[in-house]
Amino acid sequence: MPLRHRTTLTQYLIEERRRFPGSSGDFNALVLDVALACKAIARAVAMGELGGLYGDHPGEAGGAINVQGETQKKLDVLSNELFIRMNQWGGHLAGMASEEMTDPYQIPKANPRGKYMLVFDPLDGSSNIDVNVSVGSIFSVLRAPPDAIDSGRDLTEQDFLQPGTSQVAAGYALYGPTTMLVLTVGNGVAGFTLDPNLGEFMLTHPKLHVPEDTQEFAINASNSRFWEPPIKRYVDECLAGKSGPRSKDFNMRWIASMVAEAHRILMRGGVFMYPRDNKDPSKAGRLRLLYEANPIGMVMEQAGGRASTGREPMLSVQPNGLHQRIGLVFGSKNEVERIERYHREPVEKENNTPLFAERTLFRD
Ligand code: AHG
Ligand code: MN
Ligand code: MN
Repeated sequence: MPLRHRTTLTQYLIEERRRFPGSSGDFNALVLDVALACKAIARAVAMGELGGLYGDHPGEAGGAINVQGETQKKLDVLSNELFIRMNQWGGHLAGMASEEMTDPYQIPKANPRGKYMLVFDPLDGSSNIDVNVSVGSIFSVLRAPPDAIDSGRDLTEQDFLQPGTSQVAAGYALYGPTTMLVLTVGNGVAGFTLDPNLGEFMLTHPKLHVPEDTQEFAINASNSRFWEPPIKRYVDECLAGKSGPRSKDFNMRWIASMVAEAHRILMRGGVFMYPRDNKDPSKAGRLRLLYEANPIGMVMEQAGGRASTGREPMLSVQPNGLHQRIGLVFGSKNEVERIERYHREPVEKENNTPLFAERTLFRD
């Protein structure tokens, strides 16, 4: 095979850094530590049953339950530990927060503290682990408040409640047939494939772009009776296909691994919805704002797609809790904008159909 020169993740980061001549290099070191955690998780996931890592994490009485009220898998807990272990010593972080930890994680006193905060979902889609379907890790990098950086004080939940627009970087690793790292440092989106021989992430997908239009949507249709009218309208119109107001057929996918759906959409377009619904009034959605919706939202927007609550741009939402849930719609721009429009348009109460339902004749 001819030798092909490829850019490594390290080279990519160094080249990006040259845009900011005064930068310290802390940020690059942080991303490389995150990448190392992802490589370690990829290896654990790939061992599967052989590693003895399938199944629920043993808790005090049966399975351990996290702050979400969800049973933790052994691999959820291990992935969380790997993120902490790889990122707590380098001196780049002021603290961390994770789906699997109720409170912010404080950098041990013996270690230096830095200016960034790392927020992560160590293993997304973990209901899929035991059936060998793709899972991934999602991460978001924020800046710590100046007084925390100066004093090196412990972080509070409040310190993390920053809107998605404040993210310095975001991305995910996908543990599929190949392991990939997809990253934005606020200058477009780049995809790297793990070369298992070298143990290096190689730039394979520079400048990723989400097509504006699509004929593919993703939603868990078992929740349809709980959907709000704008979502019901949107999905009904997709299902009506060529003979409906959209005049084209749609395809549907649901992996139940958001990170895998995000990756498919990044590769070929599509729209993903886990909207706010009426299933449980105490939950404003299924997915979490700080470590699922915001990082995936930043990746989508940086790739020319769009991320929204259905009502407002995801990245402008002011968070009110570390583990806050939110309705999430993302993907191809024109479809997300259409769903936002449906949320703005008035709906006839009785039969839940829009007042101005789109008819082929009157379509714009
Ligand atoms: P996690 O495994 O981190 O708890 O997240 C799982 C999420 C997300 O990946 C996926 O889109 C969604 O849960 C699936 O939910 P349903 O089981 O309701 O389809
Ligand atoms: Mn998740
Ligand atoms: Mn998770």
